[in-house]
Amino acid sequence: MDFYKGDRLNEEGRRLYNMGEVHIRKVCVVFLCGGQGTRLGSDKPKGCFILPKLNMCLFEVHFQKIRELQRKYNAKIKVFLMTSTFTYDDTKKFLDERDNFDLDITLFNQDNVECLNLEMKLMKYDENSTCKSPNGNGGLFKALHQYHIIDKMKECDIEYVNVVSVDNVLVNVCDPLAIGVLYDKNLDILSKAVIKADDESVGVFVRENGQYVVKEYFESKESSKLANICHHYFRLDFLENLKNVDEAYHLSKKKIPYCRNGSIIKPDKPNGYKQELFIFDFFKYANGNEVILVPRLLEFSPLKNSDKDKGSNPTTCVSDYLKIKSTANIHFK
Ligand code: UD1
Repeated sequence: MDFYKGDRLNEEGRRLYNMGEVHIRKVCVVFLCGGQGTRLGSDKPKGCFILPKLNMCLFEVHFQKIRELQRKYNAKIKVFLMTSTFTYDDTKKFLDERDNFDLDITLFNQDNVECLNLEMKLMKYDENSTCKSPNGNGGLFKALHQYHIIDKMKECDIEYVNVVSVDNVLVNVCDPLAIGVLYDKNLDILSKAVIKADDESVGVFVRENGQYVVKEYFESKESSKLANICHHYFRLDFLENLKNVDEAYHLSKKKIPYCRNGSIIKPDKPNGYKQELFIFDFFKYANGNEVILVPRLLEFSPLKNSDKDKGSNPTTCVSDYLKIKSTANIHFK
């Protein structure tokens, strides 16, 4: 579905946007912050990464937008961060030092899972233990139940949960357009997409058995142009019912640190596989999931790589962010 003409909403888009504004209090945000950011080459959680020129980290950029929304709609927007044992301590310390930015923020951890070596055997970390990594962003569903986050959301009369990647500097959370579409079409899941650029490493949406699913970039050669930007909305009832469903792990080849004779070794080429659940593997359980196309220049500029690599790096994030800031109205209503 496309409700834009260029970077402005069309008439139907404006109708849905107005409808979404009425329901904004029923939506909370979950930032996916459990990933280790190996491509970026930073040991700190991605959310704490300071963007050059802006002198703000990704968390500060996102939280500033949420405070703007709170002011505009006179609403309290609840924020949840899914961390992992690899990112929790630094994230918690960062938030504590800044009094949670005056926001209502709850942290919860996803699980870890064993890594495999190139022979597909459990990978040893040292003599006594195995290498572990976060179980992928699809670990969200179990973690929401495990730590009673769903109950907490229900207590606050939340109806939809906006789940987004922490690494997108332009992420447009609690977007009234998306909220309007959810209510108008009575959906379980709504995701945002942009038009895929050539050679871009992104998953793409395809339709299978009447549902949208995502084919991940390193597993498939789909020709779809609908790029997944890791921005989804889930009906809370859907998440509540999504209990005890198991999906197979995907394997991604990565550089996995290990310990030998007391020293930590950081390999310079992939030496094993991380096992990951993907958030979109669970889409097939939905009744009604849709995708809306949004303008890339307004909504997608991810931080994946260091400045040594081409694209999706600190420099491109800052430049894309400043382009938006220099225009008058971020929502382009
Ligand atoms: C992800 C999407 C891909 C999409 C791209 C857009 C998935 C599985 N893949 O790919 O289809 O085109 O973003 O930028 O969603 N995370 C966790 N826990 C984990 C692993 C990841 O919270 O165990 C978080 C990361 O911190 C990040 C988000 O999930 O915020 C996306 O993960 P990342 O590994 O960066 O995914 P990509 O490979 O870029």
